[in-house]
Amino acid sequence: MPDFDHLDWTALDRLRATFLSDASARATPYWHTHDTLAAYDATYAERIGWKWDSLLRELAARVWTPPSGTVLVDWGCGSGVAGRRVLTAFSPSHFSGLHLHDHAPEALAFSTARIREVYPSLPLLDSPGFRRSDAPFTLVVSHVLNELPPEARATLLDLAARAAAVLWVEPGTHADSRALATVRDEFRNTHRLVAPCTHCEACPLFAEANARDWCHFFAAPPPGVQNDASWVRFSHRAGIDLRSQAFSYLVLDRATMPALPAVPAGTQAARVLGRPEVFKPYARLLACASDGLHFLELSKRTDPALVKRLAKDPPLPLYALSRDGSKVISMDPIIPDRDPQEK
Ligand SMILES: C[S@@+](CC[C@H](N)C(=O)[O-])C[C@H]1O[C@@H](n2cnc3c(N)ncnc32)[C@H](O)[C@@H]1O
Repeated sequence: MPDFDHLDWTALDRLRATFLSDASARATPYWHTHDTLAAYDATYAERIGWKWDSLLRELAARVWTPPSGTVLVDWGCGSGVAGRRVLTAFSPSHFSGLHLHDHAPEALAFSTARIREVYPSLPLLDSPGFRRSDAPFTLVVSHVLNELPPEARATLLDLAARAAAVLWVEPGTHADSRALATVRDEFRNTHRLVAPCTHCEACPLFAEANARDWCHFFAAPPPGVQNDASWVRFSHRAGIDLRSQAFSYLVLDRATMPALPAVPAGTQAARVLGRPEVFKPYARLLACASDGLHFLELSKRTDPALVKRLAKDPPLPLYALSRDGSKVISMDPIIPDRDPQEK
């Protein structure tokens, strides 16, 4: 659990106001003190870390790693939570070094000090060092897109275009998810789409009929958070529901073989978006596949065990799907389930 005893709650309140204000208020650096970053790191950033944990669990289940020996670049790093989560998941020795980037000097100082605490021997590259190195790199971006004016967005996309792999997490709102889907479409012909997509057709969200939908997922907090008095205080004060954190994400690399195993003939690879609604006789879900977005019904008679799991403990939402119109005929997880011992 983070150290809540020394939290600067007033700084957190100010940050909340900054995050709720329109993007122009966040176009210039807003990190001014170490205490604000420390308070952010223990709360908002930790919550962002749960989203990263969820994505990184999927990548581990799929045995996907970024190319080894690359420099890890955390762009718009803030307190540095995304880079730290990625380093922990793949191990620091997987990377040749870390480059932290933020337009706020205070954020750079804080994230550098934190990484030195956790991984003292990891080589750190400053901006001139990174530019000079010309080394292949893995780009990490977390909760940045909606703060960027057009020139900064273009700079970031240019960096993404040159990366060996990209791991990108944004909030799970309609607007943020669709902004990330726009980025996805810009790279769908030049990079391999590892996740969340099961295909590289144009993103179906942009079909007129799908204007109300968005590609988002939910990350649960670690056990104990919802009953922890400090987290409850934070959630009330920040106006945040800690039960599940909505997020959207994008993972790209340069490999050419399919990112998912082949699905059986007569089925198509599909990703279930958002949270399925589970009723007594059936579950209703939104599935994304190469032929578009589909609202589907999975009846309890068809797969009682899966309907039950969708309510409480859904598997990774990647399926070999067979359907007749909006009725699911079969929906089998593509990625083997977690080891039952782990549950
Ligand atoms: C909401 S914070 C997210 C911080 C961190 N990535 C995380 O997930 O906790 C957005 C970060 O992007 C940085 N940022 C915004 N515009 C930027 C720009 N034009 N260049 C570099 N960093 C920028 C901000 O300073 C801030 O640290």
